[in-house]
Amino acid sequence: MATPAGWRQEGNLPVELTSFVGRTRLLASLRQKLQEYRLITVTGIGGVGKSRTALRVAHQVRRQFRDGVWYVDLARLQDPAMVYHTITAALGIADQSPREGSDTLTEWLAERELLLILDTCEHLVDACAQLTQELLDTAPHLRILATSRRSLNAPGEYTAAVPPLTVPGDNPSDPAFTNEAVELFGARASAVVPDFVVDEDNIAAVAELCRRLDGIPLAIELAAVRLRTLSVEQILALLADRFSLLAGASRTALPRHQTLRAAIGWSHELCEPAERLLWARLSVFAGDFELEAARHVCAGDALPSDRILDVIGGLVDKSVLLSFPTPAGQRYRLIDTLRQYGGEWLDKLGETQDLRRRHRDYYLQLAERSEHSWSGPRQVHWYTRMR
Ligand SMILES: Nc1ncnc2c1ncn2[C@@H]1O[C@H](COP(=O)(O)OP(=O)(O)OP(=O)(O)O)[C@@H](O)[C@H]1O
Ligand SMILES: [Mg+2]
Repeated sequence: MATPAGWRQEGNLPVELTSFVGRTRLLASLRQKLQEYRLITVTGIGGVGKSRTALRVAHQVRRQFRDGVWYVDLARLQDPAMVYHTITAALGIADQSPREGSDTLTEWLAERELLLILDTCEHLVDACAQLTQELLDTAPHLRILATSRRSLNAPGEYTAAVPPLTVPGDNPSDPAFTNEAVELFGARASAVVPDFVVDEDNIAAVAELCRRLDGIPLAIELAAVRLRTLSVEQILALLADRFSLLAGASRTALPRHQTLRAAIGWSHELCEPAERLLWARLSVFAGDFELEAARHVCAGDALPSDRILDVIGGLVDKSVLLSFPTPAGQRYRLIDTLRQYGGEWLDKLGETQDLRRRHRDYYLQLAERSEHSWSGPRQVHWYTRMR
C-alpha cells in the first residue's frame, strides 16, 4: 500500500517530559523479551509506572525498527469498536480508503517492521486481544508492547509486571541515597525547591516517606509537590496521621492501591476549592486540551472564565495537570489516574451530564469554525490546531 504524504518513518513517540529513574533490570528484561515475543503486556496498579516504562523501552529500541515505533493512547477511548480506528489515526493512515473488501490496517502493516505501543488497554482488553491477534497473524514483522492494569489474555502474550520502585530497606546492602524511590523524590523535589538535596539531615525522613508511599511513583511525585510549603518531616507526619486513620487501629500498612488513593485524596484536600472544581470539570476532556477549550467548557458558577488560567497554573504546580508546548500552542492534560478521581468527583457534584454537553457543543462549534476558516488566510493555523 502506498505511503501517505507526511508519514514519518521514525514514528510518533511522545517526548518524555520529566527525568526517568531506575528500572535498569526491568528495562533490560523488556528489551530482551521483545526479541522473543511479539506481544508484551506491561501490567501493574495505577500510577506504578506502566506507561513511563513502556515509553522508555520504546525510546531505547527505536532504531531497531525500520518503520519506527508508534504510540497509541487508548486511555480515553470508551468504545471498543473504535480501537481499530484509533490505531489507524495514530499511524496517520486513517484517511486512506481501502479497496472494496480490503483492510487498511492489516494491509498497511503486512510488510512493515514496526513496534506498536498500545497504552492503557485495561478497559478494552477483549477488543485489544482480538485485534492484536489479527494484526500479529497477518504482519510477520510487527511487535506490540501494551500497557494495561490486567493482562490481555491473548495467545503468545508475555506479561511483565511493573513493581513499585525499590524503597530503602528492600535490599539492606543498598545505600538509601541511591535507592530508586529516594532518587525519584529527590528529582521531583528539586524541581519544586531548586536547592533541595537529599542529605544526611533528611534522608531518614525521605526514606520513611518513600516506604509509606509504597514506592509508587505517582504518590511520590504528588508528595514532593508539598515541599513548596512543608518540610519533609512535616509531610511525613501529616501523611502518617492520615494513613493511620484510614488503616484503622488494627493494620499498620495499607494495600498499595489504597495507598495511592489516599495519596491522591490528600493532594485533593490540599487543593483550593476552585482547583478541586476545575480538576473535576477537566475530567470530561477526552485527551489533551488548550486554554480556550478549558475556558469554554469549565467556567461557570464559582469558577469565572478569567480565573481559569490561574487555577490551571495551580493544578500544574501540584502535578495534577501536565503542561506542554505544541506547534499549535500550549496544551494541558490530566494525569490518567487523577482524571478518574476527578470524574468521580464530578459525578458527586452532579455536573457530569452538563459538562459532557458543554464539551460536545464546544468541539462541534470548533469543528464548524475550522470548516469556515479553511479556505482563509489562517489555513495553516487551523490545520495544526485541528490535528
Ligand atoms: N521510573 C520512573 N522515573 C520517573 N518517573 C516515573 C517513573 N515511573 C513512573 N514515573 C512517573 O509517575 C507517574 C505515574 O506513572 P505512569 O503514568 O507511567 O503510571 P501508570 O502505571 O501508567 O498509571 P495508569 O495505570 O494510571 O496508566 C508519571 O508522572 C510518571 O512520569
Ligand atoms: Mg498509564
